Parts: sequence; C-alpha cells; structure tokens
Amino acid sequence: MTQPHTVPERTLLDGTTLPELGLGTYNLRGTAGAEAVAAAIRSGYRLLDTAYNYENEGAVGAGIAASGVDRDQLRVTSKLPGRYHRYDQAVEAVQESLYRAGVDCFDLYLIHWPNPKQGLYTEAWQALIDLQEAGLLRSIGVSNFLPEHLDRLHRETGVMPSVNQIEIHPWFPQEDQLSAHAELGIAVQAWSPVGRNSQLQQEPVIRGIAEELGRSPVQTILRWHIQRGTIPLPKSADPARQRENLAVYDFELSEDQMERITGLGRPDGRLAGQDPAVYEEF
Ligand SMILES: NC(=O)c1ccc[n+]([C@@H]2O[C@H](COP(=O)([O-])OP(=O)(O)OC[C@H]3O[C@@H](n4cnc5c(N)ncnc54)[C@H](OP(=O)(O)O)[C@@H]3O)[C@@H](O)[C@H]2O)c1
Repeated sequence: MTQPHTVPERTLLDGTTLPELGLGTYNLRGTAGAEAVAAAIRSGYRLLDTAYNYENEGAVGAGIAASGVDRDQLRVTSKLPGRYHRYDQAVEAVQESLYRAGVDCFDLYLIHWPNPKQGLYTEAWQALIDLQEAGLLRSIGVSNFLPEHLDRLHRETGVMPSVNQIEIHPWFPQEDQLSAHAELGIAVQAWSPVGRNSQLQQEPVIRGIAEELGRSPVQTILRWHIQRGTIPLPKSADPARQRENLAVYDFELSEDQMERITGLGRPDGRLAGQDPAVYEEF
C-alpha cells in the first residue's frame, strides 16, 4: 500500500483546527459511497464534507467505521437544510444528522444556505451556538453566506461563524469575498473547487500551466486554491483520483501562474447561477 498523504491543518477563530483540503461527498451514497469514503480516508483524507440534504450521512458514517482510522483523527462536517431553520427544528435536525452519521459529535456544522427571503437564519444560528455549548458540535459555521448575512449573525448573536463554505473555482474566484473573510478571520472553504462536471478542466490556460508543471489540470486547480488560502473540498468516487487530488504538496504555482488562473474569473462565473442573495434551498 502506498503511504497516505498528510494534509497540513489550520486553526479556526474558535481555536479548533481543520485540514486545509477535504473530501466532498455529494452523490457518494449507499455501499459504493461508503467504500469510496473509506478509500479516501485510507489515502489520507481527514476532513469529510457531507450534508443532511445529500442523503449520505449514513454512507459517510459507514465509510468512517470501515476505514480503520480512529474517529478522533477525522473532522466530519454536515449541514442544516433550509426547511429546518426554526430553532426547535434545527436542534432536532442536528440530532438526526448525528444518528444518521453514527457519531456523537460533528467537528463542524454549517447552515447550508441563508435563504434570506425566509429570513430565519439567525434562529438557526442560535440553535447551533447552543448545540456547540452542549458539546454536540465542536465548531459551527455557515455556507453560501454573503457579508450582509454574516454581519446580521454577528450583530444579533455576538458569535461569528468560524467557516463560510462558498462556491469558488477559477471561473468564480470571489476575490472580494476572500479579502472580506480574511479581515473577519473566517476560514473559507471552496465548493465545486474543480468545477464539477463543467469544461473547466479543459480550459487552455489551465492545461497549459498543468503542462508547465508536469501535473494534472485538477492538481493545478487544487494547488491554486491552497495558495490562495481557501480549503478545497474536491469530490471523487475513484480511489486513484482521490489520491491524485491529495498529491498537491510537492509543487508550487508561480505568482504569474496564479494570476493567469485567477484571470479566468468572470462576473457570472457561477456554475448554476446560485446567487445566495436570491437563490434558496430547502
Ligand atoms: N455548500 C454547498 O452549497 C455545496 C454545493 C456544492 C457542493 N458542495 C460540496 O463541495 C463538494 C465538491 O463539489 P462538487 O462535488 O460539486 O464538485 P467538484 O469537487 O468540483 O467536482 C467533482 C467532479 O470532478 C471529478 N473529479 C474529481 N477529481 C478528479 C480528477 N483528479 N480528475 C478528473 N476528474 C475529477 C469527479 O468525478 P469522479 O467522482 O468520477 O472522480 C466529479 O465528477 C461536494 O461534493 C460537496 O461536499 C457544497
């Protein structure tokens, strides 16, 4: 067996730590999903990203149990659906998530979308704050929150999220969001970091830089994330591609290569037009 890769960690606002690259698990379900998660853990992944709405917290839990790696070596994240933002429903949803995943505690739990028209995300946030105090959630954060949503949370509860998980990839680099989060000390995780099923990996700029480096286009994109300080969560069901995506710690992109990739960004670069100011998910 090849040696597992070790991913460096960083410290969050609340003093807990998180690996700076993790496994996305969207669409990893059932037995095949559990096997994919177990394979990833054996390769060295220590951060796993699931959600109530992915309907795979069970497969992630089964993958953890089958991996042979101790639970306390892993950081397991899940997310609260939009339909459970009311305080009591949020508490119950987190309890249900824990049962499904078969864990006593999540290392990180996020509000999946702010759903600003619904307007209940502060209530959901208060539930996560209380569940953290009760010891069921080690760290709490949000996903798809815009600066105005973060401001409101902080104003109304006094507690800032330690993480915001948002869409970031070379077509949508979110430069402004990154500087705003750096000022607030909030760690940024990148979803769809390699562009999901789009043509992003075929971009001539990315292929050219990958060739200059002797690396794959996906490794090149993941390295770009790491050098920008965002935490990418690439999903792969395939053990070989999972290992490829971890092997990004023995090369670097030059400043020029970084700028050329960031230069692919466009204002409408979202993969599916999901602007959190108006898009809602339940
Ligand atoms: N918070 C949110 O609202 C939100 C939204 C979307 C996603 N997420 C999270 O972010 C994670 C990642 O995003 P994503 O799943 O949308 O997309 P992604 O990770 O950008 O891309 C996944 C796709 O890339 C392929 N791939 C992965 N590594 C590859 C490689 N080395 N070479 C070639 N192809 C490769 C995968 O295929 P194979 O599986 O066949 O390798 C899969 O089709 C999700 O799984 C989920 O955990 C969160």
